Amino acid sequence: MNEPSDGLSIIVVGASGNLARKKVLPALFALYCQGYLPERFHVFGFARSKLSRPEFRSRIMEHLTCRYTPSHSCTQRMEEFLDRCHYMSGSYGSRDSLLDLLTMMREVEGGRRTNRFYYLAIPPTIFLDVARAIGDAGLVSCSADQPWSRVVLEKPFGRDRKSSDELTRALSQVFVEEQTYRIDHYLGKEVIQNLMVLRFANLVFEPIWNREFIRSVQIVWKEDIGVEGRGGYFDRYGIIRDVMQNHLVQILALVAMEPPGLLDAENIAAEKVKVLRSVPPLELEDLVVGQYSESVVGGRRFPAYVQEETVPDDSITPTFAAARLRINNPRWDGVPFLIKAGKGLDARMTEIRIQFREVPGNMFCRSGGCPEANELVIRVQPDEAIYLSIVNKVPGMGMALRSSNLDLRYKVAFGEQIPDAYESLLLDVIRGDRSLFIRSDELQAAWDIFTPVLHEIERRKLVPEPYEFGSGGPASAGKIDIVTMWG
Ligand code: BG6
Repeated sequence: MNEPSDGLSIIVVGASGNLARKKVLPALFALYCQGYLPERFHVFGFARSKLSRPEFRSRIMEHLTCRYTPSHSCTQRMEEFLDRCHYMSGSYGSRDSLLDLLTMMREVEGGRRTNRFYYLAIPPTIFLDVARAIGDAGLVSCSADQPWSRVVLEKPFGRDRKSSDELTRALSQVFVEEQTYRIDHYLGKEVIQNLMVLRFANLVFEPIWNREFIRSVQIVWKEDIGVEGRGGYFDRYGIIRDVMQNHLVQILALVAMEPPGLLDAENIAAEKVKVLRSVPPLELEDLVVGQYSESVVGGRRFPAYVQEETVPDDSITPTFAAARLRINNPRWDGVPFLIKAGKGLDARMTEIRIQFREVPGNMFCRSGGCPEANELVIRVQPDEAIYLSIVNKVPGMGMALRSSNLDLRYKVAFGEQIPDAYESLLLDVIRGDRSLFIRSDELQAAWDIFTPVLHEIERRKLVPEPYEFGSGGPASAGKIDIVTMWG
């Protein structure tokens, strides 16, 4: 529990890296500008780079924005925020370095009651060393009457079910499950947070949200960029582990789960786990993988994946995957869930498409065919929107029919600033609300869907199908086209 007088120390481990500088620290500044941080808060950056405090502050400043502060007072707000930012260099995994950090923290906290959260913005290979060193340095409090300690970490959580379980088990020796906040930043996106509201706070959707009315569900994730200097990381994981097993599976769980008994973290996680456990492991015949090749778009040359910095020339890591999943439960039996993710494609876009069945015995069918079936599209990004295509009579004398959209665009409907996912998530960590974080059994269930096929791909050394950078993906992605396979 947060007491009103509690202070807050936010320890960003890996504070000189990209995640910390571009996402975590700007999100904290945004929370500060909106008055969400307690009166007594401090940020402690910890990393290997030897930086002075002014150097650390000027690095942070590069990415702070004035989104929530009128520009005339923004510089002052930045200065106030930067004044609360401290830095210490040390080696990850060294208890002594963390003891030095503890000394600094104690001085700044002035012996007053202070909650602490540790953001591990570091490569997963050192999660454990750092967590153990934090534990050994006595930086974690577990008892309910003491100020709380929480840890925040971000995928990849292992490479498969086994390595993920090992990581969970080892971490739990330092931080218990209730103290562990596993981030999937897609859960912090506004449209994703709206999924449960859309489904369960509106009368019109829930009665038709099932196999009787829905023909297929597509979850499509596209990026029009390559690996952007992250080749080393990406090549070890590939698109299935980087995007599908986490972001897309989380979206699938929220689209497909049953209504939770109560709107709290435990009940929501329980329903997500239940639906994910009804998804049988993906099979190779329901999967297409691809890798982008060199191309020239608008006169500009884009390198192939294997030409990217730090990617081996003979890499067979997929940058694209399309998979067909099923859900074996009474609501979804026989409804294909097609999930697609790719880098180096023709657009940046994340969308959920709910395709409804055709109207039975439709009296408007003509020799040329029947009117199109309805489709509900939930666009996560960019330009957040929800639209429903419906069939209408085109104004005029004849009976011509056409589909058009009932269209809700977030910018028009709400006109408000849409917070960055990290802002919502960090605020939830401070409030102790774990509803938007991944519980360990959810993580296990998500790995169970993909682990067998990932091992199979590796065992067979499956070569991904090339597709040109900037295109729509590999030609045979159509192989798992819902209509041809499922009728
Ligand atoms: C990350 C992936 O989780 O999400 C990246 O590791 C990807 O490969 C990124 O680019 C996309 O996030 P967003 O919020 O820009 O869609």
